[in-house]
Amino acid sequence: MRKIKIFDTTLRDGEQSPGATMRHREKMLLAKQLEKLGVDVIEAGFPIASDDDFRAVKEISETIKGPVIAGLARAIDKDIDRAWEAVQNAKKPRIHTFMSTSDIHIKEQFKKTRKDALEMSVTAVKLAKSYCNDVEFSPMDATRSDPEFVFQVLEAVIKEGATTLNIPDTVGYAQPSEFGQLIASVRENVQGIENVAISVHCHNDLGLAVANSLEAIKNGATQIECTVNGIGERAGNASLEEIVMSLETRKSFFDAGTDINLKEIFPTSQMASNFTGISVQRNKAIVGENAFAHEAGIHQHGLLANRQTYEIMCPELIGKKIAFVLGKHSGRHATKQVLEEMGFELDEKQLQQVTAKIKELADKQKTVLDEDIVAIAEDVTNQLRKEEKRIVLNELRIEAGNKTTPTAYLSLLIDGKPVEAEGTGVGPVDAVSSALQSVVPTKVSLKEYNLKAITGGTDALADVVVKVANGSGKVHTAEAINEDVIMASANALIKGINKALAKEGAVEK
Ligand code: KIV
Ligand code: ZN
Repeated sequence: MRKIKIFDTTLRDGEQSPGATMRHREKMLLAKQLEKLGVDVIEAGFPIASDDDFRAVKEISETIKGPVIAGLARAIDKDIDRAWEAVQNAKKPRIHTFMSTSDIHIKEQFKKTRKDALEMSVTAVKLAKSYCNDVEFSPMDATRSDPEFVFQVLEAVIKEGATTLNIPDTVGYAQPSEFGQLIASVRENVQGIENVAISVHCHNDLGLAVANSLEAIKNGATQIECTVNGIGERAGNASLEEIVMSLETRKSFFDAGTDINLKEIFPTSQMASNFTGISVQRNKAIVGENAFAHEAGIHQHGLLANRQTYEIMCPELIGKKIAFVLGKHSGRHATKQVLEEMGFELDEKQLQQVTAKIKELADKQKTVLDEDIVAIAEDVTNQLRKEEKRIVLNELRIEAGNKTTPTAYLSLLIDGKPVEAEGTGVGPVDAVSSALQSVVPTKVSLKEYNLKAITGGTDALADVVVKVANGSGKVHTAEAINEDVIMASANALIKGINKALAKEGAVEK
């Protein structure tokens, strides 16, 4: 089986995504996670672009020992010097240099000729090679270039010592069969190509970055440039997880595989999304929230009999825990499984009642939360779950306005005892949070608060997710949905605090 190298450019092309910015510490942590994931190459940044980029590439080079660390450079001396300065201390350094080969770029952007572009490419590789043995060259916009000119440039840079030739579909223009054909023709027409690695770098403007990369593998590419969650310039780059899982799931079709540690795929995706602030589309293949969520009753029933009925790969493989989504299409089998996991034991009649009530609720509201299921099951079975509810909200009142300090008044039951709480804040939600904090142990702290509207309009459902830490620093996540933002916030906070308190001592008033 052929080994396909994974060249991760999340920290370079991924960071170029509109709206993505990572702090220095986050880049370091992500680089460590990419090493754990088992990528072969980390393109750590574009050192000439800024001092921050330079510092990140330098520190990653000095810290990460497993993968090759690449620094990007235009075909300009000062870029190459700076890239080398940044990667020279890496255990396995690489300089990645590029020059456009399409006429539109050469003439319109650079105001140069093909001859100039050829000379710049050769000079750049020669200089890079004088520093570093591992040199990658990319003919930018290759898919809109005259193939004969691309062959000519590639042949020339091989003679100067380039060790990897990367064919970029810079503007995401190519179609899969056409791109595969281009890779095959590079192999046929470029002298010396058999001594270097062939890489591809596909953008997703037409949603074809992964398809094009896979087609390139079929036609002899041995390195794929990609990013976690497919982030990158404009519509993004080829998605690392989709390529890796295609190769994994269809091993015999491709007769090729990677060294990626599959269990780290989901944690890496979550980390990249948290650090860049770019959330993963819900139905995104492999790492989206819905990627393994089965709602149709017939599917859930099939899965319980044999997971392969509706799953071509299992979520545990990528480090994700499976969750059934109970909704109006769910049947008794799935409901039973979910409830058993929650600690309920139901007889057949109770199970039917709970299933019917869940469907009834799902008709009214799109999302049925765990807490709704618990409430229904408790109601039907008269059982109380073991999970403690030490704080219960009886009443919430808010005073707010443009001339009033936002104040929250809470009437609670804490360990069965009535407690009144009052708090002020910069807004009503902050006031609720300080009222709650005033009556729970000081060791409980709010780490994160996220609000999103589920539907549009001013009557949108508010979905609040909070992270609450207990004294030992363990973080508990809780979610609540309500038509009222403040109620959703209060419920999520109370739920999070209850979880955090579950293993703490008694509530101090
Ligand atoms: O998209 C592109 O062409 C690039 C090159 C620098 C490889 O990112
Ligand atoms: Zn790119």
